Amino acid sequence: MKKLFQRISQWIAQNLFHHQSLSGYAQPLIQWFKPGWRSHAWRAKVVVMQQVKADVIELELEVAGSWPSHQAGQHVQLTVEMNGRLTSRVFTIASSEQLAQQQRRIRLVIKQYSRGQFTPKLAEFINTGDWLNISRPMGEFTLPDTASNTTRPVLMIAGGSGITPFIALLETHLAKLQQPVSLLYFAKKDQHLFNEALASMALSHKHFSYQLLVRETDGDIANHLDLDDKPWVMMCGPAALTSSTHKALDAVGHNDDLRIQEQFQPTSQPLQSDCDKPVTIGLKLQGLYQKLTLKKNDNLLSQLEQQGVAVSSGCRMGVCHQCQCVKRSGIVRDTRSGQLSAPGEQLIQLCVSQPLGALELEL
Ligand code: FES
Repeated sequence: MKKLFQRISQWIAQNLFHHQSLSGYAQPLIQWFKPGWRSHAWRAKVVVMQQVKADVIELELEVAGSWPSHQAGQHVQLTVEMNGRLTSRVFTIASSEQLAQQQRRIRLVIKQYSRGQFTPKLAEFINTGDWLNISRPMGEFTLPDTASNTTRPVLMIAGGSGITPFIALLETHLAKLQQPVSLLYFAKKDQHLFNEALASMALSHKHFSYQLLVRETDGDIANHLDLDDKPWVMMCGPAALTSSTHKALDAVGHNDDLRIQEQFQPTSQPLQSDCDKPVTIGLKLQGLYQKLTLKKNDNLLSQLEQQGVAVSSGCRMGVCHQCQCVKRSGIVRDTRSGQLSAPGEQLIQLCVSQPLGALELEL
């Protein structure tokens, strides 16, 4: 009966209100009375907040009772009220499953990008003792059972802040794993994180080794891969690192099924010759209709923001659905997969959609 009700309400939300759920549709109204509220969110209290490097901040959060503990390698969406607007971003949990299960705590280690809209302002809007909204844990960048139940080595490849899931994975699984585990960690000179934690893990677990690498001086990933024992390869980092790793693995015939990947930038392939040609967008926003001229070579979210359109957004990588809107007509391209949409009405996420021609949108 409960399932039937859920299905009916989901059908009404999607077909009448073009939202994934009725609570999502009612969200703006509820937030008007209770600004911190979000549908499908849990509460977490900031218990530690410290600047660990000039541009890296660490948050330790105590999660409220019903939050479902994460699997190492997963991420959460954090929602913070900034200047009266709820703003969300997705961050990987950089602490073990045991810490969440036993102490109800998770740690986020957040790189602050000077040109970002969220991370550089965190210290301004969050204090120790504040309550934040977090989502349930999400993501599939976890250690498969088959990897932990064999003697096949595990090779981890991290780039920049892509180190965070590996810290959670190592803290959670290292003591149980029997096989060799190694980590190749690329970052800019003097920008490697978790140096002490890695050194201490290597000291206490003889089957773990790691290398801190700098692309400019240590060269490409291909120079550092040891694939003789056909390891499981887990990789997390910018698109350039993951794609050059795939290339190097393909070159030696490394099995696709032994690769697990998390990439934190969409592969935005430029459109061909006409990518600078303008396209016309008809936009209906809060009942008002306007026409805008956009380019084909950038996602809709950034372009609408540049033109001063107030658009909700969160993760900016196709995860949180906050930028979702109704496309009435026209074709968009998904920047993650390169797939083209159907020309008719459908829900799209602005942050991972590039316009291919004239579009009609309703926000
Ligand atoms: S901003 Fe999160 S899906 Fe677009």
